[in-house]
Amino acid sequence: MSNIELNHTFSGAHALITGATGGIGQAIARVFHAHGAHVHLSGRRTDVLQQLKDELGQRCDIWPMDLSDRDSIHSAIDKIQHEKIPLNILINNGGTNKNSLALRIKDGDWDEVSQTNLSAPFLLCRSLFPLLKESALADGGYARIINISSVVAFAGNVGQAHYVAAKSGLTGLTKALALEWASRSITVNAIAPGFIATPMTEDLDLQAWVRKIPTKRVGTPEEIAFAALFLADARASYITGQTIHVNGGLCMV
Ligand SMILES: NC(=O)c1ccc[n+]([C@@H]2O[C@H](COP(=O)([O-])OP(=O)(O)OC[C@H]3O[C@@H](n4cnc5c(N)ncnc54)[C@H](OP(=O)(O)O)[C@@H]3O)[C@@H](O)[C@H]2O)c1
Repeated sequence: MSNIELNHTFSGAHALITGATGGIGQAIARVFHAHGAHVHLSGRRTDVLQQLKDELGQRCDIWPMDLSDRDSIHSAIDKIQHEKIPLNILINNGGTNKNSLALRIKDGDWDEVSQTNLSAPFLLCRSLFPLLKESALADGGYARIINISSVVAFAGNVGQAHYVAAKSGLTGLTKALALEWASRSITVNAIAPGFIATPMTEDLDLQAWVRKIPTKRVGTPEEIAFAALFLADARASYITGQTIHVNGGLCMV
């Protein structure tokens, strides 16, 4: 919980966070919870979800789902809708890469990476729209969708054709939904992290990347979480369809 100051900016808000078992997702969950939000944690590893729920205590629920499996997503969405969660904030953070040069990417890996990083966020946005709209239209209400994209959606990357394509698609989805749903007081934005120290990057030669990063270090999960906090704030209502780049200056667009 380093660098997380407690306050109640998000008191009464409900945030669903996918990928909440991972490095960035856990940081987002902790930061939003510390700011008073009720956090709804999603991921596949139920033991890790339960550990985080035990750590956070009240104002926390878990909704296991497999983002690569439409039936699993629909089943979790049905339960969330049944509970009529007054959802304000949807953070599509869950993601996977199956690094391989393009010529060696297997059909199954292409499908899994596309489904998890792009199709699943779309399904969640579309299905949870009614709950978000209701929160947005309530007196003093608002709703936010935040999609976690990647620097590689803007810079490309070797060995990640499927991941780059999916994250680029997520950027496009962000813009399209922002246009369609601005009139419903739902903002839709993205965050494009650079290289962040999490399990996803632990096998990479991060020092080689650090030499290319102007700040000469990789980012922390909390630095992504604070960008999400900014976009989710009720006062950020004039920001939509945008991508915030959190990459230490690695890529400027
Ligand atoms: N770390 C970076 O440098 C970096 C850079 C740019 C973008 N990103 C993006 O940031 C997001 C979070 O990544 P991270 O760095 O925190 O990685 P991470 O620690 O590996 O976490 C990935 C998360 O995604 C979830 N996930 C993966 N496949 C899933 C599936 N089929 N169904 C449900 N959940 C699934 C994992 O949950 P389970 O393990 O419980 O299934 C886990 O919670 C991802 O979208 C990633 O693409 C990361």
